[in-house]
Amino acid sequence: MSSDSKKILIATSGGDCPGLNAVLRAFVKSATNEPGWEVWGSRQSFNGLLGIPQELIRLDRKTVSGIHVKGGTILGTTKESGPFNWPVKRADGTTEYVDRSDEFVRICQFAGFSAIVNIGGDGSQRMTLALHKKGLPVIGIPKTIDNDLEATDVTFGFQSAVDVATEAVDRLVSTAESHNRIQILELMGKHSGWITLHAAIAGGAEVCLIPEIPYDITKISAFLRRRFDGGKRFAVIAVAEGAIPLGAGPAEARGVKAHPNISIKLSGAAERFAGELKNAGFEGIRCTILGHVQRGGTPVPFDRILGAQYGIKAFEMVKNGEFGRMASCQNGQMTSVPLEEATRSLKRVPLDGALIQTARNINICFGD
Ligand code: F6P
Repeated sequence: MSSDSKKILIATSGGDCPGLNAVLRAFVKSATNEPGWEVWGSRQSFNGLLGIPQELIRLDRKTVSGIHVKGGTILGTTKESGPFNWPVKRADGTTEYVDRSDEFVRICQFAGFSAIVNIGGDGSQRMTLALHKKGLPVIGIPKTIDNDLEATDVTFGFQSAVDVATEAVDRLVSTAESHNRIQILELMGKHSGWITLHAAIAGGAEVCLIPEIPYDITKISAFLRRRFDGGKRFAVIAVAEGAIPLGAGPAEARGVKAHPNISIKLSGAAERFAGELKNAGFEGIRCTILGHVQRGGTPVPFDRILGAQYGIKAFEMVKNGEFGRMASCQNGQMTSVPLEEATRSLKRVPLDGALIQTARNINICFGD
């Protein structure tokens, strides 16, 4: 790989998220503000480079013009394949995953990319780190609506997801009150309850169940009985998809095989909790699963701005040769951290943090 090359490969990997296009636009604008730099986008994460035919697109000012307001990613993305886990269909219809990472390195070197930028969440950044260990000049940009990436204070997409989740709580409050019902809202967050906690506080849910705090149904029943006896005969309950009853595990999707890139597939946290409430004698229960609505659509202004800051920082890192690192936002400042640090563990809601305390002070029940 020639060190004077000014050719950059960029990809969006893992689940999509509002703000990805704002990052791409700012990155490309920063690069093309300076002479000689060429930015190439790989379609569907790194499939664009490894696939036959290749699907790479030259990203210039025209390609990225006005895209910051759009949801999703103009490059497309995937969770289901990558250089280390490339799916190959066997004759019997099953899928085998093969490691094509050495080939990936050779193709990048042959094409003369002097930097490879991967915008992705926890799993994707582990892939970025593994590519770095194979000698590639990589840079990560953190992305997840779940806000669970370690070593950065915030990720773009999170505020947009909280916006949608809060609107859902708001809407459920009015219908719950009209019918004297218990409305359960299932929100995203396999391992962390950031979206659920924020939406519960902002929307005014009565109960908030997050993966960090195993819940005890008897405590929630007692809480709801007191509320109902006090005259308020409705409740909105925000449940993270990874919520866990005391002594049990998260609600795993049955019959769905998780891909090697995906830790666990979840499904049914709200339904399971509804069943527990019915068994405890409650009636008039309804469930809403907000699902991918939280990931789609236009980013809120905060995420557009944060996305632009990440894009600009990542290009600065390319110019400085800060490889093997991830752009990070700390105390409102853009900086960078080693990918090892960024992928060491997930950022979960701290139980002694101000946000949990805020929720407790306004009488939100966690079932603990
Ligand atoms: O990783 C982000 C996330 O939004 C999780 O909260 C959620 O469990 C997951 O994606 C679901 O996404 P998909 O259906 O695309 O695998």
